[in-house]
Amino acid sequence: MNFSDSEIVASVMTENNYVTTKEQNEADVIFLNTCSIRDNAEQRVMNRLKQLQPMRKKKPGLIIGVLGCMAERLKSSLLEEAELGLRVDMVVGPDSYRDLPQLMLDAESGQKAINIILSAEETYADITPVRFASNGVSAFISIMRGCENFCSYCVVPFTRGKERSREPQTIYIEAKQLFDSGYREITLLGQNVNSYVWEDSQSNKTHFPELVAMVATVSPLLRVRFATSHPKDLSDKLIATIAQYPNICNAIHLPMQSGSTSVLSRMNRKYTIDDYMARIAAIRTAIPDCAISTDIITGFSGETDDEFAQTLKAMEQANFDFAFMFKYSEREGTLAAKKYPDDVPENVKAHRLQEVIKHQQKMSLASNKKDVGKVVEVLIEGFSKRSKQHVSGRSSHNKVVVFPDRGFAPGQYALVKITSCSAATLIGEAQ
Ligand code: 5AD
Ligand code: SF4
Repeated sequence: MNFSDSEIVASVMTENNYVTTKEQNEADVIFLNTCSIRDNAEQRVMNRLKQLQPMRKKKPGLIIGVLGCMAERLKSSLLEEAELGLRVDMVVGPDSYRDLPQLMLDAESGQKAINIILSAEETYADITPVRFASNGVSAFISIMRGCENFCSYCVVPFTRGKERSREPQTIYIEAKQLFDSGYREITLLGQNVNSYVWEDSQSNKTHFPELVAMVATVSPLLRVRFATSHPKDLSDKLIATIAQYPNICNAIHLPMQSGSTSVLSRMNRKYTIDDYMARIAAIRTAIPDCAISTDIITGFSGETDDEFAQTLKAMEQANFDFAFMFKYSEREGTLAAKKYPDDVPENVKAHRLQEVIKHQQKMSLASNKKDVGKVVEVLIEGFSKRSKQHVSGRSSHNKVVVFPDRGFAPGQYALVKITSCSAATLIGEAQ
């Protein structure tokens, strides 16, 4: 989401005659687009801000701005030089990027600039993102912003505000323009894409399954992905739509968070583990060949050994192809911070995290081994990181596939026979 937001920021700045640079030393303005989801994300930003301070000596007038969720969460406290031991010139929340040119004027005149007003409407629908860090093949399209699910551990509803969706036609046009300029894969983004709903002036509603179907008609050569779905909102209609369109990728990211119904209840996830497994079963019935990935949190408030064991069991039962796994990090102001003590010792959280990672690696390897001998369609993204003799791309399942180059270009599709694998990568030969 931040990657996508930075493209909006680049667009607003470019419209106002600023240019981007890849050279930090050349920059007159440095924006850090920040994440507050876990404490370690915020610590990384604080360290980066510290590292940047000496640049001010070489470049008087250098402007350093904090954008995004940390700006929203920490507000004007980020401007307290004495307290932080470092100087920040601008603090700009995720709904205020249109105001950047005005804020720049303040900052350039030596004043500190801040706008952290959250909006109930802002979707940046009319701003064409500048794809400044793209591979030219895959792009993100932000389709909705904000979240009102209030999972008890999560800071996002506080930093990103109310849910709002973008007009479908603007999304279709953006996808078409991307396709026409050579892109072959788009990921529709939202904190909770399944809550997407647009109501037009005649009160006709477009829901997420209709939107994905619409975007899939741009071209059969355009792959469509989306993230992230909340299990309580993953409808049968959406599953049927994925099954119906070959270019909607057979890969669903469905955060489980925990395998224990009691933990899920404390997390305010609004589903039981049986509900979750019923959604997995619905996917597997309609799309037998669908990759399913997830997010897991270990050591949430009050998590017992037994509750944790249920997570390991549920991972096995769901048979995830891939997972993002995290230690619980208490966030100030959230429901959990108010209601449940952060009482699982750090070493237990860390040990449980290692266990889920080990468990998932085994399952990812088994999932990849099942692909050995199969022929998969790969969208080529570029040279492999390790060798210029090999290219790398992704399967519809979102698995990385590496194979010998035969003069391929990024954006081309290749049918690749898988010959071997690791837990993270499939290796093959183009047919
Ligand atoms: N601590 C740890 N992980 C968190 N996530 C969200 N909030 C927290 C937190 N406070 C994880 C969830 C979510 C993913 C994006 O980040 O698993 O799905
Ligand atoms: Fe956070 Fe839950 Fe919203 Fe995801 S659905 S952004 S975890 S509150």
